[in-house]
Amino acid sequence: MGPQHYVIGNWKMNGLVAGACALARAVLAGAPGCATQLALCPPATSLGAVAAVLGRGPVMLGGQDCHPKATGAHTGDVSAEMLADVGCGLVVVGHSERRTNHGERDDLVRAKAEAAHRAGLVAVICVGETLAEREAGRTREILATQLRGSVPAGATATRTIIAYEPVWAIGTGKVATPAQAAEAHGWIRSELDGMTGAGGAFSILYGGSVKPENATDLFALPGVDGALVGGASLDATQFLGIAAAAPRRRA
Ligand code: PGA
Repeated sequence: MGPQHYVIGNWKMNGLVAGACALARAVLAGAPGCATQLALCPPATSLGAVAAVLGRGPVMLGGQDCHPKATGAHTGDVSAEMLADVGCGLVVVGHSERRTNHGERDDLVRAKAEAAHRAGLVAVICVGETLAEREAGRTREILATQLRGSVPAGATATRTIIAYEPVWAIGTGKVATPAQAAEAHGWIRSELDGMTGAGGAFSILYGGSVKPENATDLFALPGVDGALVGGASLDATQFLGIAAAAPRRRA
């Protein structure tokens, strides 16, 4: 029995309520029989409506970000407690678009992951190198720094998922080669092992231009426990096609 396998859809800033509900309904209809835990992360404005669609069914609901604090004068922000209140079971933190567009650094990402844990949510912590960092041979060092800075002390595999998302592969159609992905996942797992003593228990997802056409090869790699999917998660057929590539593991 290895780590839990996940396919998580990150819809980013896409979709209005009616379309979000239709997409969630289509994913929910295809979920039975999936060999992976599915989750959907709609924009905050659609969370309540999508929660009503998903109900207590097999597809988890997730937020795309949260504030470190539970309440307070933080205009425009959403707390982990609010996400839990509306039915979320997980929240993505430290996505490279947050790190780049909002200047989020590792200590803030860690505070957000701690907030997720405080609220009873699973934190999906994203890490990944830029093309310049990869070309400079710094990938392992960057991943180690991000993990040490972003993963809360005492994080456990039941409440923490790591998403390896090479920045150069997000939304670009460029996927890491099997060798690159397997190598990075190995580095992440050994770093987590050094940090927690239980690296083998963590689900480590790959993210960056995952499609039905490349999911089978990615999921066959040692140490790849699923995917964080952006663009292809906006189409139920594609998203379920990725989910269908999940290997059947013994529960
Ligand atoms: P992509 O996005 O699948 O569109 O490359 C992945 C992500 O940002 O999580």
